Amino acid sequence: LRFLCYANDGVDEHMIWLIGLKNIFARQLPNMPKEYIVSLVMDRSHKSMMVIRVNQVVGGITYRPYVSQRFGEIAFCAITADEQVKGYGTRLMNHLKQHARDVDGLTHFLTYADNNAVGYFVKQGFTKEITLEKERWHGYIKDYDGGILMECKIDPKLPYTD
Ligand code: ACO
Repeated sequence: LRFLCYANDGVDEHMIWLIGLKNIFARQLPNMPKEYIVSLVMDRSHKSMMVIRVNQVVGGITYRPYVSQRFGEIAFCAITADEQVKGYGTRLMNHLKQHARDVDGLTHFLTYADNNAVGYFVKQGFTKEITLEKERWHGYIKDYDGGILMECKIDPKLPYTD
């Protein structure tokens, strides 16, 4: 199992993985318009942390790091249907936290969680209580009424991956 984080940087192999991830999001997030999924996954200011097994993408998280504000917005998160509830979603989030802290310099994540995914995000350390000062995120993340805004503080020292 590999955990790799890429943006749309023009490298063919990265593009193939991003397309695989986009297809997983399109299936697992049926309420999201497919064009919207494609536009964010392929957007150069978004990055995707992906779980790759035997050269196949089995899931991932697409996020936008706001480096100046030191927080990231998670846009999409999914694991392919037949690989859910095996712990991949947890390991994926841990790799994302480690990367976001050590590479992007972020301290927090924000996301609009779907109602049925709130339980997953709570297990990953997200809360409905937003402690990040509004000045740091207001005007950066887009309002979206299809979900619940949740926050996760990234521990400054914890080793999230082994
Ligand atoms: N509701 C409540 N708890 C959940 C859910 C859920 N929907 N999904 C997983 N969990 C729990 C698991 O039971 C597990 O608990 P445990 O540690 O006590 O055993 C824990 O969360 C972690 O489970 P994993 O196996 O690591 O999670 P998984 O690999 O299945 O990934 C995910 C979770 C990403 C939510 C996956 O189930 C999925 O793709 N679902 C469909 C798409 C979806 O809803 N995505 C989120 C939409 S919101 C957004 O994208 C911003």
